[in-house]
Amino acid sequence: MPKPRILSGTRPTGRMHLGNYVGALANWVRLQDEYESFCFVADWHSLTTAYDGRTDLRDSSVQVAIDYLAAGLDPERTTIFVQSSVPEHAELHLLFSMMTPLGWLERVPSYKEMQENLDRDINTYGFLGYPVLQAADILIYKADAVPVGEDQVAHVELVREIARRFNRLYGTVFPEPRSLLTATPKLAGTDGRKMSKSYGNTIAMGDPPETVRRAFMTMMTDPARKRRTDAGNPDRCPVFGFHKVFSGTETVAEVDQGCRTAGIGCVDCKKWLFESHQGTFAPIYERRVQYEKNTGQVVDVLREGAARARGVAGETMGAVREAMKI
Ligand code: TRP
Ligand code: SF4
Repeated sequence: MPKPRILSGTRPTGRMHLGNYVGALANWVRLQDEYESFCFVADWHSLTTAYDGRTDLRDSSVQVAIDYLAAGLDPERTTIFVQSSVPEHAELHLLFSMMTPLGWLERVPSYKEMQENLDRDINTYGFLGYPVLQAADILIYKADAVPVGEDQVAHVELVREIARRFNRLYGTVFPEPRSLLTATPKLAGTDGRKMSKSYGNTIAMGDPPETVRRAFMTMMTDPARKRRTDAGNPDRCPVFGFHKVFSGTETVAEVDQGCRTAGIGCVDCKKWLFESHQGTFAPIYERRVQYEKNTGQVVDVLREGAARARGVAGETMGAVREAMKI
């Protein structure tokens, strides 16, 4: 039995942060044992919102690829590539755009939401078509499953509808991929709000240890603990949220108890957090530094990944052209 195939990706909107790591990337690293895995950098998808020419897509794509590799995605087991180096995605996107009803796209929840919340003008053809491009990304590899968070489930549902419509019109070419929802921990930002670059409350995967330590030390705590002798409530403290993600159960219990009884101070608590963080991220950071020094090696990985991906994508496009009599 061949392993089922998964495909995952992320937009290169800058370096990946700890929230991206625990919420997605760490999971992709685990899944590469069980699945035949494809993992790409969705640079064209970035252009759906950041089309003003001010982002260096090449540089940010390489940075994201470095995050992937440093986190432990293994090019032997995972095909790692940049979307735009597999132009077949664009061809399939074009063909899907011909048969995707506008109503389906206008109904996607993230469409209205982002239209309302983003300060840039995203009243564009490309932005509306975001999920069609995503359908092409997924279906061109005939992926069986897509590891995603809750926020992407509606997109994957649309991908299934597009596959179904194509198959009905032209004969069955595509499987209907399912969402692979894995319970991953949620990490809030350093101020307790959602971790997001626009809030300036992120810690990047590639931040040097000293930067991370400082970020922890200046992090908000339970406002009720003004003095060392005041008891606190860890559930109201973002530091505790980080402990729950990065520390072992014993440390978490000690913090919980120590905070509530004023047995520990916030400075101690944050020092322990830094130690826990380093347990996971010291090796990742080391690898990252090595790749940064040797981006040629990263570019090679991406080139090989693209070649492998194009092999599969080309075969699918052959079947698509055959089915559509093109
Ligand atoms: N929409 C995804 C995100 O915002 C990125 C993405 C594009 C993607 N194409 C994909 C994810 C295909 C999984 C599969 O993070
Ligand atoms: Fe937060 Fe830890 Fe201070 Fe409690 S002891 S308020 S959990 S930093």
